[in-house]
Amino acid sequence: MSRKALFDPKLYPVCDCHLGSSDVSRTITKDMMKKLPQIDTNRLRLASFKPDDAELVYAYASNPNVARYTSWQPHETVADSAGWIEYALSHQDLEHESLNCPWAIRKRDDSLIGCISFKRTSITTGRIDYVLSESEWKQGLMTEAALAVLSWAFTHVDGIQEIESGGLTENVATVNLLRKCGMTLRKTANHHFAKFGDEEKEVSYFSITRDERKANRASREAG
Ligand SMILES: CC(C)(COP(=O)(O)OP(=O)(O)OC[C@H]1O[C@@H](n2cnc3c(N)ncnc32)[C@H](O)[C@@H]1OP(=O)(O)O)[C@@H](O)C(=O)NCCC(=O)NCCS
Repeated sequence: MSRKALFDPKLYPVCDCHLGSSDVSRTITKDMMKKLPQIDTNRLRLASFKPDDAELVYAYASNPNVARYTSWQPHETVADSAGWIEYALSHQDLEHESLNCPWAIRKRDDSLIGCISFKRTSITTGRIDYVLSESEWKQGLMTEAALAVLSWAFTHVDGIQEIESGGLTENVATVNLLRKCGMTLRKTANHHFAKFGDEEKEVSYFSITRDERKANRASREAG
C-alpha cells in the first residue's frame, strides 16, 4: 500500500479527532513490539498488536457502525488494516516524552476485539482513545479496559496529572463510557471534520485529574 494511505489518519482505528498524519516512518523492531507493557484485567488482556492481526482489525474497523462517529473512515481492505498496524507498531513508543501506547484489546481466549491507546499530549497530560468490535458492545468491556489504562497511566507515567478523552457529543456510547470512567465534561466546541463534509459537529471534551481519581476512589471505598 502507498505511504500516503499508510499515514492517512482516516485509517486510524481509534477515535482520535486530533490525530495528525506524519511523514516520519520508523522501522518496526522486535524490541519496539516487546516494549509495550501488558495489562491484564478480569476479562481482557491489553498487549501489543502483531503484524498478522490485520484480518482481525479489518473485521471491526471495516464495520460502518463502528466507524460512525470516529474521525476515520471504515477500512476498505485488509491491506488498509495491515497498513494501520504497521503505522501503530512503528509509532509505538515508551520514551518518557513521546509516550504512545496503542494496545490491542484481546479477550482471555486471545481473540482480538478492539484497540485502546494512551498518548502523552504534554508533560502533564495524556489522552485515551478506543474502539471495540460491535459484537462486544454494552458488556462493560471498554469500561474495564479504560479504567485499567487510566490506572496504569496514573501509576506508571511520571508527571501525568490529567488524562483527557472525548468525541462527538452525539456519540452517546462514548459520552456514557467516559462518565462511567469518572471523567468530567470540561467543554464542548463545534468543529468541521473532513469526514462529515460541510456539517459542523459538536465535540465533547472530557478529562479526569489525578486528584479527582483519588477522590473518586476514596468515596467508593467509603461508600
Ligand atoms: C464507545 C464504545 C467503545 C463503548 O464500549 P462498550 O464496551 O460498549 O462500553 P461499556 O459497555 O463499557 O459501557 C459504558 C457505559 O456506556 C453505556 N453505553 C455503551 N454503549 C451505549 C450506547 N450505544 N448507548 C447508550 N449508552 C451506551 C453503557 O450502558 C455504560 O453505562 P452504564 O453502565 O451506566 O449503563 C463502543 O460503543 C465503540 O467501540 N463504539 C464505536 C467506536 C467509537 O465510537 N469510539 C469512540 C470514538 S470517540
